[in-house]
Amino acid sequence: MLKAFAAGLIAATILGNAGAHAETLSIALGSVGRDVDEMRGQLDAFEKASGHKVTIVTMPASTTDQFGQYRLWLSAGNKDVDVYRTDVIWAPQLAANLVDLSGPMKDVIGQHLPAVIQSQTVDGKLVAMPLFADAPALYYRKDLLEKHGRQVPKTWAELTETAKFVQDAERQGGNAQMNGFVFQGAAYEGLTCDALEWTASNGGGQIVSPEGEITVNNPKAAAALDMAHGWVGTIAPQGVLGYMEEESRGVWQTGNAVFMRNWPYAYPLGNAADSPIKGKFDAVPLPAGEGGQSAACLGGWNLAISQYSEHKDAAIELVKFLTSAEAQKSRALGTARLPTIPSLYEDPEIVAQQPLVAKWKSVFENATPRPSAPTKAKYNEVSQQFWTAANKTLAGQGDGAANLQDLERQLRRLKRNAW
Ligand code: GLC
Repeated sequence: MLKAFAAGLIAATILGNAGAHAETLSIALGSVGRDVDEMRGQLDAFEKASGHKVTIVTMPASTTDQFGQYRLWLSAGNKDVDVYRTDVIWAPQLAANLVDLSGPMKDVIGQHLPAVIQSQTVDGKLVAMPLFADAPALYYRKDLLEKHGRQVPKTWAELTETAKFVQDAERQGGNAQMNGFVFQGAAYEGLTCDALEWTASNGGGQIVSPEGEITVNNPKAAAALDMAHGWVGTIAPQGVLGYMEEESRGVWQTGNAVFMRNWPYAYPLGNAADSPIKGKFDAVPLPAGEGGQSAACLGGWNLAISQYSEHKDAAIELVKFLTSAEAQKSRALGTARLPTIPSLYEDPEIVAQQPLVAKWKSVFENATPRPSAPTKAKYNEVSQQFWTAANKTLAGQGDGAANLQDLERQLRRLKRNAW
């Protein structure tokens, strides 16, 4: 009798008290690719298991716009959102408004890669639990490279040359819409990722060093930005200056680009039944710069619970459910989300059904972080200054050297004596 009661209690703790304390939660998340329907599918499973209800508050696609909205809500003590899906770079800036998850999640924290947990820990407080990691790929059209007798590029210089060659040959052959390369050139956080990859792979550093030193104003970083400027209007459409992830994928997936820089979510979408490029492409790590190394910007998303939530216990159940090995596996299979639980990279089903995920473990583990840890609460402004300098350079408003000199001045002003 006592045993049965104890078992019931355990089930109730894991699954929630179906019916008895059913609560309605809300979760805010952005809407790139299949973000929202992927989440809805997992929420339906959670609702069934727990008896709670969860509604989605859909945010804009741009991570920058989401951040602005979250910050407004959190600073106003908004009680309407219980769980926020948060970008890997936000932990230091939002920490004060979020629940410390180190206690509630103590049994499962050890499953995740320590570096990811570390990135979400601010002064000992675990601000968010990892949902999935992100690390970009160079997508390329196998069929077009083969047709024109070209190799997959290993350096940015090779990419520039190959993209131009194939684009021109295709255009001459009557394919007037073809572009060589699409990426994220709009003035937002995504450009910080792309431009960091260009500068870091060229030996130009990480904008601000892990020790907090402003290092961005150097000739290698400037040369990398100038190289990217050279793409605009030649291998990339002029419109790339306004492209985020989904605009790049739109061009790519309709078959109008030879190469694309994007995150893994674009892989299964490109191979969907109705995709014109199904079976015609593959993905490799990004090209190397003059420094001989390739750099992938570390991305990823997490779940955080608002301090102002009136349903914290149910929210904890939800976060546990969505960040569990089972949920991470189902996202890896469904949408090629990179798990933060290392053992999943050897999971036979993942290896068989999403080879990109299995191949991407080392890309993710060696990815270059954006300087959110060293610049703390000022990261967003640092990033904004950096993407502005990059976007101006792409547009030909000043060259890399001039814009980085300006950027250094802005960053010094932001930093003053310490971040
Ligand atoms: C992806 C990454 C995220 C990054 C964003 C930029 O969503 O996971 O970390 O900030 O792209 O657009």
